Amino acid sequence: MVAPTLKQELLQPVAWHKGKVRLLDQTLLPGEVRYVELDNWREVVTAIRTMIVRGAPAIGCTAALGLALGAQGIETTDCTEFLTQLGIIADALRGARPTAVNLFWAIDRVWGVAAQHQGSSTEMKAAILAEATAMVEADIATNRCLGLHGASLLPEQATVLTHCNAGALATAGYGTALGVIRAAREEGKQIEVFADETRPRLQGMKLTAWELQQDGIPVTIIADNMAAVLMREGQVDCVVVGADRIAANGDTANKIGTYGLAVQAHFHNVPFYVAAPLSTVDFALPDGSHIPIEERDSTEMTHIENTRLAPDGVPVWNPAFDVTPAHLITAIITEQGIARMPYTNSLAALQNHSR
Ligand code: MRU
Repeated sequence: MVAPTLKQELLQPVAWHKGKVRLLDQTLLPGEVRYVELDNWREVVTAIRTMIVRGAPAIGCTAALGLALGAQGIETTDCTEFLTQLGIIADALRGARPTAVNLFWAIDRVWGVAAQHQGSSTEMKAAILAEATAMVEADIATNRCLGLHGASLLPEQATVLTHCNAGALATAGYGTALGVIRAAREEGKQIEVFADETRPRLQGMKLTAWELQQDGIPVTIIADNMAAVLMREGQVDCVVVGADRIAANGDTANKIGTYGLAVQAHFHNVPFYVAAPLSTVDFALPDGSHIPIEERDSTEMTHIENTRLAPDGVPVWNPAFDVTPAHLITAIITEQGIARMPYTNSLAALQNHSR
């Protein structure tokens, strides 16, 4: 895989900085750009759970750095004891959020390196940190490759609808769905974006609109219930979204509302693309029915900022993700190329190619 050269200053939502994990606090955007520096792995778990950092690849990178941070603080020189203590930290990180498989993928990778380097605890710490920081770097290169593949699907002039935030903020930089849009723009294509506001947490309105505006990419915010009419009016050339977990058959978990968009796109004959690194594909799951779906606190629905808008006592259902069946997905864009139906074969072929 050849990483294209950087053309612009990248947002750095996740980084290792002077022995700490530095995160851009996404709960404050777009009002305030503030970085938090975490020097304790427990704070990293909390940051993932409370969505200071969010988006599947960004969660994975943060977990890898969080494990490295935890490793630096382990005091024993006994390798077996070192791995026992590291395992406790890894389990806590695994428990932070359930749906994005990148979290588990990243921890398994760092864990694998630790388990291999059983020389001394100093060597293990160095190897763990090197692996975690390399994963952050690699994520940006992956997104740039993915972006180039995805850009080939977009016409010279296009209006793209996206949901939630699958941008630089949701990764180590550049983004997946928004990486496709950035790459197309870098090729000189005229791309405009409709950003779904994405209830209940409004990642589309707060994050996607903000980061596209920073880059000078034309973006218009719509409420989630406006997409169908835009499609009927012929104002959407394609939908591009990210993913939190893709089953081996292509069924895709992404932000709640993605499934509805895919149904609408299918009805209106609008291509529906998923952009995600191969680390988001969970080849152990045959189909999407096995993907765990996170349910979040009801206050995300009932309150806006700190004001309660819903009547007291009415039950709330608040799943954070839904699963789009593979047959509604026109193509899955990865760093190794573009997969099409049947995804069980095409995704496996791309995975083999990457080895
Ligand atoms: O709950 P979030 O904000 O973490 O959900 C994020 C999404 O659903 C993204 O679309 C997905 O993680 C892909 S990010 C490149």
